[in-house]
Amino acid sequence: MRVLLVCLASLLVCLKTADSHSLPQKDYETDSSKHYITNPLNDTSGNNSSSVPDTTTFIVRYVTTVDKKEYKGIYAHKNGKVKKILEGGRAVSVWPSKSRAYLAHKDGIYVYDSETEKLEKYGNLSDSIIGIVKENRTDDLYILTEDHVVYKVIEEGTKKIKVNEAEHAEQIALDWDDNLYYIGANNQPYVVASDGAKKIEGLPAYSTSAVISRAPIKIEHGAWFMSGQQPYVIYPNATSEPFVFSDQEKLEYEKRNRDLQVIFLQMRNQTEK
Ligand SMILES: *[C@@H]1O[C@H](CO)[C@@H](O)[C@H](O)[C@H]1NC(C)=O
Ligand SMILES: *[C@@H]1O[C@H](CO)[C@@H](O)[C@H](O)[C@H]1NC(C)=O
Ligand SMILES: *[C@@H]1O[C@H](CO)[C@@H](O)[C@H](O)[C@H]1NC(C)=O
Ligand SMILES: *[C@@H]1O[C@H](CO)[C@@H](O)[C@H](O)[C@H]1NC(C)=O
Ligand SMILES: *[C@@H]1O[C@H](CO)[C@@H](O)[C@H](O)[C@H]1NC(C)=O
Ligand SMILES: *[C@@H]1O[C@H](CO)[C@@H](O)[C@H](O)[C@H]1NC(C)=O
Ligand SMILES: *[C@@H]1O[C@H](CO)[C@@H](O)[C@H](O)[C@H]1NC(C)=O
Repeated sequence: MRVLLVCLASLLVCLKTADSHSLPQKDYETDSSKHYITNPLNDTSGNNSSSVPDTTTFIVRYVTTVDKKEYKGIYAHKNGKVKKILEGGRAVSVWPSKSRAYLAHKDGIYVYDSETEKLEKYGNLSDSIIGIVKENRTDDLYILTEDHVVYKVIEEGTKKIKVNEAEHAEQIALDWDDNLYYIGANNQPYVVASDGAKKIEGLPAYSTSAVISRAPIKIEHGAWFMSGQQPYVIYPNATSEPFVFSDQEKLEYEKRNRDLQVIFLQMRNQTEK
């Protein structure tokens, strides 16, 4: 069982705009129906992942109006079939080597097993959640609630601890070493350190869009940050560097885009009758 994670926002736009050096960006203007897919560049499974049968790709669908996101649900794509698994689902944290995915909803956390295709409520929290990430080394999670507060969720989803260092977070992400990053109200990323949150240096002061996520697996340390169409690796010591694709990575990236386009067509075909 392998899981393909995607971190491309709004694929339809990205397919039109992606050139060999760039990654897609969020675009709220050209198409009101948006999708957020989870997927690293060269994730975990390596090998032509999305064409491998049995791989599950999760798609979070939402529609944006002027300044509001309306969540349509989380879909799972497997073996060419698309299934809506959680109505109103808002975010998903997928684990490469495991079949369990954690899903965020307005009434708490759900867990989906992509082998058995079963969905269950996870723990007993009832927060309205818009972001969720799981640690690499433990089963603990971090959640971002609709009111922009970050909590660490421990003890199988029965206890939460507020992360006071993260102020008004818009998005959250972890790196492979379980350092926590977030994007603040100013669209800039921060890393949460033991002595407080630190702003990541070396990034453009303004960007039309900012996205953070776990980095592709070959980047062992640091998280992934997209400013507009430029990817960066951001480090726990609050530094950053632009990421430059090699020729091989460009080919892989383009292939992944093509695979994702197929997944999208299948999703549209199967869900928009
Ligand atoms: C890659 O694919 C080949 C052939 O399908 C398979 O033998 C191999 O185990 C795969 N490698 C990984 C890392 O999945
Ligand atoms: C992966 O895809 C590329 C191009 O589509 C192909 O050349 C290569 O043989 C594939 N690798 C495996 C292991 O299937
Ligand atoms: C969740 O369950 C735990 C352990 O059973 C309990 O201590 C806690 O109060 C519960 N929390 C909520 C929000 O119900
Ligand atoms: C995840 O954690 C394990 C266990 O500590 C570690 O060995 C591994 O390197 C981590 N994964 C990555 C991709 O860094
Ligand atoms: C910060 O960490 C990165 C990655 O580990 C390293 O390359 C860089 O030299 C460090 N910078 C400072 C100022 O410590
Ligand atoms: C992707 O992963 C495969 C298998 O781990 C590796 O051989 C390949 O070089 C990686 N490509 C990139 C761009 O990291
Ligand atoms: C759409 O679905 C129909 C049957 O439901 C199928 O015949 C057709 O090939 C599909 N088209 C695409 C582009 O997947």
